[in-house]
Amino acid sequence: MPIYLDRPYAIPAKPERLTAQQQPAYRAKVKQLLEQHNAVMVAHYYTDPALQALAEETGGCVADSLEMARFGRQHPAEILLVVGVRFMGETAKILSPEKQILMPTLAAECSLDLSCPATAFSDFCDQHPDRTVVVYANTSAAVKARADWVVTSSIAVELIDKLDSQGEKILWAPDRHLGDYVQRQTGADLLSWQGVCIVHDEFKGRALQQMKRLYPEGAVLVHPESPAAVIAQADVVGSTSQLIKAAQQLPQRTLIVATDQGIFYKMQQACPEKTLLAAPTAGAGATCRSCAQCPWMALNSLPALVDALEGDRDAHAIHLDPAVRERALLPLNRMLDFAQQLRT
Ligand code: 13P
Ligand code: SF4
Repeated sequence: MPIYLDRPYAIPAKPERLTAQQQPAYRAKVKQLLEQHNAVMVAHYYTDPALQALAEETGGCVADSLEMARFGRQHPAEILLVVGVRFMGETAKILSPEKQILMPTLAAECSLDLSCPATAFSDFCDQHPDRTVVVYANTSAAVKARADWVVTSSIAVELIDKLDSQGEKILWAPDRHLGDYVQRQTGADLLSWQGVCIVHDEFKGRALQQMKRLYPEGAVLVHPESPAAVIAQADVVGSTSQLIKAAQQLPQRTLIVATDQGIFYKMQQACPEKTLLAAPTAGAGATCRSCAQCPWMALNSLPALVDALEGDRDAHAIHLDPAVRERALLPLNRMLDFAQQLRT
């Protein structure tokens, strides 16, 4: 039986953001420290726009989880400052063990990762030895080490389609919405772990229907971690990078976006003439736990960046068991090779 762990984690409170007056001194300090320590920022689209801007200005990258992994691996800096959530830092360490991987805070978790502990997952795999194990990038290094493949949302449909065409049955983890979406797209025999992203799980199908009536000329862009009723109304379904690209290419001038609102910074840069609207996260009577802002991504702040670079490094460094790292490298490299094949 697939396992559903019903939110066995606490959701962190949002930290106070710095005022506009406080920011310049921190920004200057981070720039100086990055240079001094031969470090580069690798940031995700969901982080505070002030941090995304700093990554851009200092020669780092702002990207989706697949591109973050690629960028970190090929960049010559000795230190990667991964501004995102822990699985992104762990992925960087798996791919670049010789580099020091620092994170503004190691408390930046992910509900998908937290809902899929390695031991329970390994038992689940043992119960289904006939299935090819495909795990989403949003998992711990230990879960990746149990997998045949790692995948991100940008290439999930293509990979499962390929495995299905080879006659393979799939064990998928941990996001059930993404798993269901991929299953619907490919028709694969796919058994899914029952985790959710607490941010995307909150988008509401009926409220979105009502919103579309208000903006009949608009297009709907949806990240596939969202529920099926939301995906069903999408003009475009894709990873964060794919949604930004689509925002630029679509003819519509009004876009309703169902993903974390941190993406609006780069999306608006890509199409400054368009109006971006957040998809509804709370229908009538519903509660809103994240309000389309990942509470763990929000833990990344300018003071935390400074602390990572000049404070107690060990409190910010990713360390992995070498055996786990080596085993997790296999499915991660497979993913990167597959992504490369798709590109070419
Ligand atoms: P992307 O791979 O699309 O960047 O997604 C990562 C993530 O955490 C989405 O919630
Ligand atoms: Fe995890 Fe969801 Fe946050 Fe992405 S938005 S890091 S999937 S909790």
